[in-house]
Amino acid sequence: MAPAATKVLLSDLVSGIDCVPDNYIRPEADRPNLAEVEASDASSIPLIDLQGLFGPSHDDIIRQIGQACQQDGFFQIKNHGIPEEMVQAILNIAREFFRLPESERLETYSDDPTKSTRLSTSFNLKTEKVSNWRDFLRLHCYPLEEYVQEWPTNPPSFRKEVGEYCTRVREMVLKLLEAISESLGLDRHYIGKNLGKHGQHMAMNYYPPCPQPELTYGLPGHTDPNLITILLQDDVPGLQVLRDGKWVAVNPIPNTFIVNIGDQMQVISNDKYKSVLHRAVVNCNTERISIPTFYCPSPEALIGPAQGLVDHEHPAVYRSFTYEEYYHKFWNRGLRTECCLDMFKTPSA
Ligand code: OGA
Ligand code: NI
Repeated sequence: MAPAATKVLLSDLVSGIDCVPDNYIRPEADRPNLAEVEASDASSIPLIDLQGLFGPSHDDIIRQIGQACQQDGFFQIKNHGIPEEMVQAILNIAREFFRLPESERLETYSDDPTKSTRLSTSFNLKTEKVSNWRDFLRLHCYPLEEYVQEWPTNPPSFRKEVGEYCTRVREMVLKLLEAISESLGLDRHYIGKNLGKHGQHMAMNYYPPCPQPELTYGLPGHTDPNLITILLQDDVPGLQVLRDGKWVAVNPIPNTFIVNIGDQMQVISNDKYKSVLHRAVVNCNTERISIPTFYCPSPEALIGPAQGLVDHEHPAVYRSFTYEEYYHKFWNRGLRTECCLDMFKTPSA
């Protein structure tokens, strides 16, 4: 039997082991079954070119976005306006951060999900039975000036570069929210105006190489609890999306981001748009870094189906709730494939 993990962070545990410690091993019925995963091809996850969103291709791009949100819950974007050098710089900063000496990284460590800046491991150690093969740094990013002084100062360019990246991603998200509002037939400012003061969180996920990737997950199947997620990944595959009951690998395409609909968008759209299950698997040879931006309502924002999408034929599927209430439930129930959304349905739905 492999001994239980003795290090706080996985990145400090992996160098000395050649099999997965017991607390990372999933029960047999809940393993990634990697041989059955479908390879992605151009048709599996739509790739949308945002060039021309404000020009002649506007209507066509809105239609593509609407279709992707409805059918796939996931799409990839190119010509998104975020410079390649900025993206490479962020990936390098994340890589360097996870290579810092253990003692320095541990200064940021916390297993309290309510902390706005923290390094942690797995998902939620306090509630889960089996650990996940991941370390992660979580940051709140908006409003930037409220949080940036909590962020790490090493690597030395961390605050400046990550701050600039967050600002650019936010600008891009606001454009996407207008496009998505429009694709739902709502006023183009509808979604942006119904998120309270808005919130933006980021994770830097570090998935170390794993001696037995068939036994564990980087992150098990889950939907994202926020509004919309913009995922930046390095060139190592690992993300998989559930499509027609099968897991599909979403292999990285240079200079693209992956966008996925989160639970709050499913609620606002009154179930027209889908927050889809996805997961991260690990591999034997290569570390992997992914950097999701979780765009969200602020905690006090009241979320519910848009009135314009509720009528006799489409009764409200969800009750209204504050984002704080939802988020609290999400972190405390553990990552489970049954969707947290079911707990917020109206009695008739
Ligand atoms: C997440 C997530 C996927 C990945 O952090 O919510 O789904 O590829 N990450 O790291
Ligand atoms: Ni996710």
